[in-house]
Amino acid sequence: MMLNNEDFIRGLPKAELHLHIEGSLEPSMVFDLARKHGVTLAYPSVEALAAAYAFDNLQSFLDIYYAGAGVLRDADDFFALTQAYLRRAHEQGVVHSEIFFDPQTHTARGVPFEVVITGITRALDEARAKWGLTSRLILCFLRHLSASDALRTLEQALPYRHLIAAVGLDSSEAGFPPVIFLEVFERARAAGFLTVAHAGEEGPPAYILEALDLLKVVRIDHGVRCEESPLLVERLVREQMPLTVCPLSNVRLKVFARMEDHNLKRLLMRGLNVSIHSDDPAYFGGYLAENFIAAQQALDLSRAELAQLARNSMRASLLPPAQQQAWIARIDAWLAAHPDA
Ligand code: ADE
Ligand code: ZN
Repeated sequence: MMLNNEDFIRGLPKAELHLHIEGSLEPSMVFDLARKHGVTLAYPSVEALAAAYAFDNLQSFLDIYYAGAGVLRDADDFFALTQAYLRRAHEQGVVHSEIFFDPQTHTARGVPFEVVITGITRALDEARAKWGLTSRLILCFLRHLSASDALRTLEQALPYRHLIAAVGLDSSEAGFPPVIFLEVFERARAAGFLTVAHAGEEGPPAYILEALDLLKVVRIDHGVRCEESPLLVERLVREQMPLTVCPLSNVRLKVFARMEDHNLKRLLMRGLNVSIHSDDPAYFGGYLAENFIAAQQALDLSRAELAQLARNSMRASLLPPAQQQAWIARIDAWLAAHPDA
């Protein structure tokens, strides 16, 4: 059977490792939930809200993203949000998803931690039962809030330790180096959480080093600015440290001016463990398959390279090695059945 590249990408088994669940809140759901809760929005229509998604940088996005999340009020809202994301992910060939959530965005508005996690978890359980789609949850601390606020959030998470695989660090990067969160990450590791962190999206290579050496992360989210330090790149290759790269996000937030300028392919060819993810798909113009397709077209990625990116997503995942290997075998078989022309 002859497949075009888009169908090749959709059929490729993929792990999504960098996805903020609040970033999957579509404008139509913002309006549905606003109506449900009697909230007045700053925009008159779904179209007007969607038209506001034109960003100059990370902060201009975050301002709209946190405002949008204000319509999430009860556990059914978090369930509906997560269910809608998982359905789309499943339709695009995502077989495993590691999902970030930002509890402080909600607890600061008076929504209890328990409401957030029970709603999300109910949808994760349903997707596993319906489609065999496996998942992990990653609690992100907001770096624009204080270290003591993060410590309080970790305390709130401890009763749900069994539902959360790792902690991460997100929100405004420049001016908020990882070292600020050293103590909370040490406590999280002592409690058995793995650690990840956004670093090198807008921040310098020094932040990637801090994430590695101080926060002891098992992967770096974004990390694309590593290229500015050849010594760091050498280390990332040697350690096969995963970088979860988000192409559409990077272009929308002007980390790269155009997709053609993205360094994903160079990093891949340099031997880095890079993989493709969608970050905040409702805001950046596409889910995982659209990210693969945009990168494939702009960077002229071969099917062998697309398959390597998918293998990397499995290797970088928190799945047990045997499950990673099983998916990698499926990826190899898909490539063998539909090779480059
Ligand atoms: N929160 C949601 N998306 C983010 C991103 N790309 N960088 C930092 N924080 C985020
Ligand atoms: Zn992110």
